[in-house]
Amino acid sequence: MTGDEGRQVRVLLVGAGPVGLVAAAGFAHGRHRVVCAEQDATRYATLARGSLPFFEQGLDALVSDGLRSGCLSFVQHVADAPPCEVVMIAVGTPSMDNGEVDLRYVFEAVQEIVRWAREPLVIAMKSTVPPGTGSRMEQHVLQGKPIHYVANPEFLREGQAVHDWFHPSRTVVGAQTPEALAVIRKLYQGIRAPLFEMSVTTAEMVKYASNAFLATKVSFINEIANLCEAVGADVAQVAQAVGADPRIGSDYLQAGVGYGGSCFPKDTRALNAMSDANGYAFRLLKAVIEVNAGQRRRAVQRLADALGGRLRGARVAVLGVAFKPETDDVRESPSLEIIPQLLEAGAQVAVWDPRAMGSARSVLPKDVVFAADVYEACAACHAVMVLTAWPEFASLDWDRIRQGMAEPYVVFDGRNCLPDELAQAGLIHLRVGRPERLLVSTTPHHTVTAPVRNGREKIIRL
Ligand SMILES: NC(=O)c1ccc[n+]([C@@H]2O[C@H](COP(=O)([O-])OP(=O)(O)OC[C@H]3O[C@@H](n4cnc5c(N)ncnc54)[C@H](O)[C@@H]3O)[C@@H](O)[C@H]2O)c1
Repeated sequence: MTGDEGRQVRVLLVGAGPVGLVAAAGFAHGRHRVVCAEQDATRYATLARGSLPFFEQGLDALVSDGLRSGCLSFVQHVADAPPCEVVMIAVGTPSMDNGEVDLRYVFEAVQEIVRWAREPLVIAMKSTVPPGTGSRMEQHVLQGKPIHYVANPEFLREGQAVHDWFHPSRTVVGAQTPEALAVIRKLYQGIRAPLFEMSVTTAEMVKYASNAFLATKVSFINEIANLCEAVGADVAQVAQAVGADPRIGSDYLQAGVGYGGSCFPKDTRALNAMSDANGYAFRLLKAVIEVNAGQRRRAVQRLADALGGRLRGARVAVLGVAFKPETDDVRESPSLEIIPQLLEAGAQVAVWDPRAMGSARSVLPKDVVFAADVYEACAACHAVMVLTAWPEFASLDWDRIRQGMAEPYVVFDGRNCLPDELAQAGLIHLRVGRPERLLVSTTPHHTVTAPVRNGREKIIRL
């Protein structure tokens, strides 16, 4: 006896993606008895060997800890799992071509659970599903079965997922019955966070509203950035001062090539499709989505302008394929939209990413050069585009990169993450919504860099 028995919950996690695996290892850390089912044969084999199928800071240690304590184990199929009190679904909910959510994996998982269940249990939906999904499930699939349904959306961020798991801003639970609520409260007892209890449909809406709002902040600051370029203001300083207002907050106010990843793009499209289907035109959200797509096109156009108006024949190094730093996830990454646009315009593209080269190879066109390191990627290139704010990009040897590049030595800093000193290495440093800085004169004792309002005209004169 460990003394934990009364507080332990037996949980089955369905799906070992970033959400399912972090949740499984997180609950195991809280000494619940967790089994995680992963149906993908390759992913399952990797987990069964004690390795991780993707990179997430701190997750390997958490999973090893769970395996060592005996609180965490893996099966390939729901049918192989022992009886549990809670089954948490964390399977993918991708977009369909029309923007609606493909709920195939969710419904398949629920059917498997219904076939496997031998005793009363709670299904907790961690996957992001449109408002109304849970109530459809209750009416059509779970009717008359001893299964309670709970909506329990997840808000963790890839790259900081383990931290977010243990320090969430809130736990949201949509439940119809006090029994179901009680089990979920017990499951989360070790995690300190405000608990919001509401109806299933309302909880489902919280997740979409959260992601749509964050995406709106990103598109909003990108619109301000574009205007800053036109009037000669600096969006970084604007965002810093605007974000200091606690009513606004500084998070998600970094101008750049727009949001990507496995959540914001598909969730904004889903909310938009859902609004249309309900006869409501969500105009603000439509604009958010359009601004985000425009931000990629604008990046390519600015690069073309800096290269004298054409990309045909230009050699471009793209640094950063992951949709954000500290992950190897490339789903809906800006680079996956920008690279095809560059290729389409006739540029040759070499890529480098500190973590995501494996994922990049599986999704990028074959005519992209996958470099062995960052300096090889930039060698002989006319331009470098930085599309992920990996911290190591800021401390690269930019003198060395400049020496290996070809004229006109353009660096498009699509995340405003590179140091101001780039101009001193003789590079044309284009940023998003920030004045370009380029070298005006240099003597052994004195270097002057000048902010330039309309970069292209000034560069030509220099
Ligand atoms: N990734 C994030 O940052 C994040 C954050 C919050 C919420 N979400 C939401 O959480 C859900 C999961 O996201 P993800 O990125 O972890 O998904 P993912 O697609 O990366 O992983 C899902 C996993 O579930 C497995 N799976 C599918 N059906 C299964 C079944 N019947 N039995 C066993 N395994 C099964 C798949 O093989 C896959 O490995 C999505 O709805 C997503 O929108 C994701």
